[in-house]
Amino acid sequence: MKRVFGIICFAVFCLGALAGCVSGAQPQTGDTDENLRDTILVGFSQVGAESEWRVANSESMKAALSEENGYELIFDDARNEQENQIRAIRTFIQQDVDYIVFSPRVETGWNSILLEARDAGIPVIVIDRDIEVKDRNLYTAYIGSDFRKEGETAMRWLENLLTRQGRTQNPVNIVHIQGTIGSSAQIGRTAALEQALGRNTNWQIVAQECGDFTRAKAYEVMGAILKETKDIDVVYCENDGEALGAIDAMEEAGLSCGTNGGVIVISFDATKLGLTYCKEGKIALNVECNPLQGPYVADMIQRMERGEKVEQEKYVDETYFESQTITQEMIDSREY
Ligand code: AHR
Repeated sequence: MKRVFGIICFAVFCLGALAGCVSGAQPQTGDTDENLRDTILVGFSQVGAESEWRVANSESMKAALSEENGYELIFDDARNEQENQIRAIRTFIQQDVDYIVFSPRVETGWNSILLEARDAGIPVIVIDRDIEVKDRNLYTAYIGSDFRKEGETAMRWLENLLTRQGRTQNPVNIVHIQGTIGSSAQIGRTAALEQALGRNTNWQIVAQECGDFTRAKAYEVMGAILKETKDIDVVYCENDGEALGAIDAMEEAGLSCGTNGGVIVISFDATKLGLTYCKEGKIALNVECNPLQGPYVADMIQRMERGEKVEQEKYVDETYFESQTITQEMIDSREY
């Protein structure tokens, strides 16, 4: 119903634009503005609540797609199960929502459900993690992070640090705690590490385990690794929760973390807590992964409502923080 209405709006908009071409630019008609304010029904399947990052991401979506902003948001927490996400998306299709948004647990396995959404004529926006599908036209757009770039930022930083410390020849023992296997966040960050291993022949992985992006799991796997070896130079964690869990386990085992003689911990996300650990020197480098994606989604929906063509890929802005240069102001200004 709303989509039909949207098409009519679009037609009105096009006619208005055409008239503008003929007789000079005209202000939008009152009718079109009215129509753009009609409530937009959005179904959002969130992967879960596994990390502080994820909670901030959910809050950002809820704030941007609020009633005051003209939306009705159906929020579904998939509790970290892909089947739950597929079920939620199918329900959104049955509810005839105007837009489907989802943050996929893993990259693959979305072809059939996206085909169903396309057959129903519902635009799909993928956020946060990317997907791999047979036909790129199965979804409208992706808004999220360039995880490979995040990992490459971390690797370049580590290479520079070790070069400055004269450690280009000695063996560098790395523990790798991976995120949810098959998620694009894991795939991109892992790929960057693997690529760096290829060009730094003195680096070696002494242990690789999945921490599933949670503090508890990382604490558990790091504890088990430490029973095997304590000869560790670097711990590469694929998010802040994992870094915190790994640090807990290392401190319990009597290891200290830091860039001057301690274990160098690298993390991703840059949440307030992660940055606090960074300022304390326990996380040496924290590469930002920006969860505040709600405004980007709202902006894209508004442009689609106006009948504008939107970009197929939109990467959010991200930076990084080092323990040597981070300030309290940077932490205080963090929203999450
Ligand atoms: O997909 C983004 C990742 O998922 C974040 O790094 C992590 O904290 C979250 O759970």
